Amino acid sequence: MRLFIMLIAFLAAGCASPPPAEAPHAAPGILIIAHRGASGELPEHTMQAYARAIELGADYIEPDLVMTRDGVLVARHDPWLSDSTDIGDRPEFASRKTTLTGPDGQELTDWFAWDFTLAELKTLRARQVRPDRPRQFDDLWAIPTYDEIAELAAAETARTGRLIGLYPETKWPRHHQDRGLDMTSAMEAALRRHGHETAEAPVFLQSFEPFILIELKERVGTRLVQLVFPLGTSPDAPPSVDLETLATYSAGVGPHKSMVNHPLTGEATGYAARARALGLEVHPWTYRDDGLPGWAATPEAEIRAAIEAGATGVFTDFPGTGYRTVHGSGDN
Ligand code: G3P
Ligand code: CA
Repeated sequence: MRLFIMLIAFLAAGCASPPPAEAPHAAPGILIIAHRGASGELPEHTMQAYARAIELGADYIEPDLVMTRDGVLVARHDPWLSDSTDIGDRPEFASRKTTLTGPDGQELTDWFAWDFTLAELKTLRARQVRPDRPRQFDDLWAIPTYDEIAELAAAETARTGRLIGLYPETKWPRHHQDRGLDMTSAMEAALRRHGHETAEAPVFLQSFEPFILIELKERVGTRLVQLVFPLGTSPDAPPSVDLETLATYSAGVGPHKSMVNHPLTGEATGYAARARALGLEVHPWTYRDDGLPGWAATPEAEIRAAIEAGATGVFTDFPGTGYRTVHGSGDN
């Protein structure tokens, strides 16, 4: 029954009118950042999920990036592949399963992107990673490269007349570096290939790891965003990187949403206001129609509370909801 309801919701969303080409771009208003594409509907980090996000009105599409053995940036949330692809059903790759220690000291047994060439990864097909979301699009679509995603954004900008931005996140950069894969240089080269090495480019480049942002700050003018999370479960827990420090190299901060609105009451914490006072963009994550905190009556109400608290953009798995909330159309 649940799958049936989700299917109906998906079809209803698919029948909704896309935003008109002349729709006002959110800048300098609130940015709708499509988190992993339209990942609430389609398998995340596929060309189809990014295209759907643009159709739903996203200002920016977000590829999380890892690297292949031959040094290509590809879109996956995690370097491991078992939950987001069909690799577990590929006997030709069975022997590549391996065990490593992750950045947080956790032991991981899986297949990892950096052990495969791009040509090998391109034979895989993407899968839905969340068990409560539609699975009918599993095993259809390939893993995209960052270049392919950047080309999609440029083509859609030309086609629609709306400026479609890119919001890449470098995943596990230190771990890549330890394996001889220089993510800083790969990212710099990718930005230059697409003419995105200046602050005027429609790009925000994000990471949880400060070192890669600090290195890139020395090489390019592209706007950088430090991702932060609370070091603990209490609403008063300190952030993983403090605002004054990150303001020295970042144009913005990407905090966990519980840092912007109190996780139990929804009240503004003051964090976004403090960041804004330092001149920072504030882009909290992640807003999900199917993952509301108890205090929010609707997904739109949760996003509105973030904006009222000082957010200048939101990461959402449901960019259509974000668009309706920001632009005032639809049932919100
Ligand atoms: O990049 C913002 C947000 O996506 C960070 O969390 O784990 O979904 O990449 P994650
Ligand atoms: Ca991300």
